Amino acid sequence: MMTAPVSVAAPARSELLAGLFPLGVCASESRLPIGRESLYVEEAQAVGGASAKRASEFATGRLCARQVLAELGVYGFPLRRNVDRSPRWPGGIVGSITHTVGFCGAVAVEQRRFAGLGVDAEVTSRVTAELWCQILTAAEKSALEDRAQEDRAWRAAAIFSAKESFFKAQWPLTSRWIGFEEVEIELYPDVGDEHLGTFLVRPHSTARRGIFPFDAYAGRFRLDGNLVVTGIALEKAPVFP
Ligand SMILES: CC(C)(COP(=O)(O)OP(=O)(O)OC[C@H]1O[C@@H](n2cnc3c(N)ncnc32)[C@H](O)[C@@H]1OP(=O)(O)O)[C@@H](O)C(=O)NCCC(=O)NCCS
Repeated sequence: MMTAPVSVAAPARSELLAGLFPLGVCASESRLPIGRESLYVEEAQAVGGASAKRASEFATGRLCARQVLAELGVYGFPLRRNVDRSPRWPGGIVGSITHTVGFCGAVAVEQRRFAGLGVDAEVTSRVTAELWCQILTAAEKSALEDRAQEDRAWRAAAIFSAKESFFKAQWPLTSRWIGFEEVEIELYPDVGDEHLGTFLVRPHSTARRGIFPFDAYAGRFRLDGNLVVTGIALEKAPVFP
């Protein structure tokens, strides 16, 4: 059986991901898989019985995270996994990891600057029309129908990705599961570039009540070839009643 090629190349600073966030958020990416032998012992335990593919995506994410932590002055820190599967970042730092086919990235920043970060990458062709009824609200679907056929797939992927980014950013602060139907995403492309812009996350009342103090949260999206990336930085932790 063929196994995935393993790279010893280190992840590099990611201009693509850094461009989604305010200045000061560190971002790293790798487009090549990295083997599990690069993991710290404590990290390797988390993927002990996993397939080579899963172990490799986990390791690539950990190596990207290691690079952003080094940029923040943190060295030799095994990034363990919490029981809810979220990464256990060092005290005083918040971050996020994403991986998809051919791309893996991590972002991190000091907690005194932001309460939470979320990053996500999706290959547009993997967010197929069959998935739309599970991940899009009626309003999101109807907004897509107003678009040209060729724009629908990447826009659906961007909406999905924005939800995943928001989920990752808010989870460590709320431990609150939010369904795809509980938030609405609006995409606002920048003037002159349809494939780059701001997204707004509007939590619906059921998800918002007592959890999210604002009507909307803003992040950034970008279409880069067949890849959609999104990122969001939460300024303040949600306020609980
Ligand atoms: C957890 C979840 C967001 C991961 O997203 P994904 O697109 O499937 O996968 P990605 O590769 O982009 O991200 C996986 C990484 O997210 C991180 N992650 C996992 N659970 C997490 C959580 N609860 N909170 C924050 N980060 C989490 C991990 O670092 C994981 O990689 P690792 O296991 O190698 O460490 C997704 O699987 C999920 O459960 N979503 C819940 C529902 C939802 O998204 N609702 C949207 C409405 S807001």
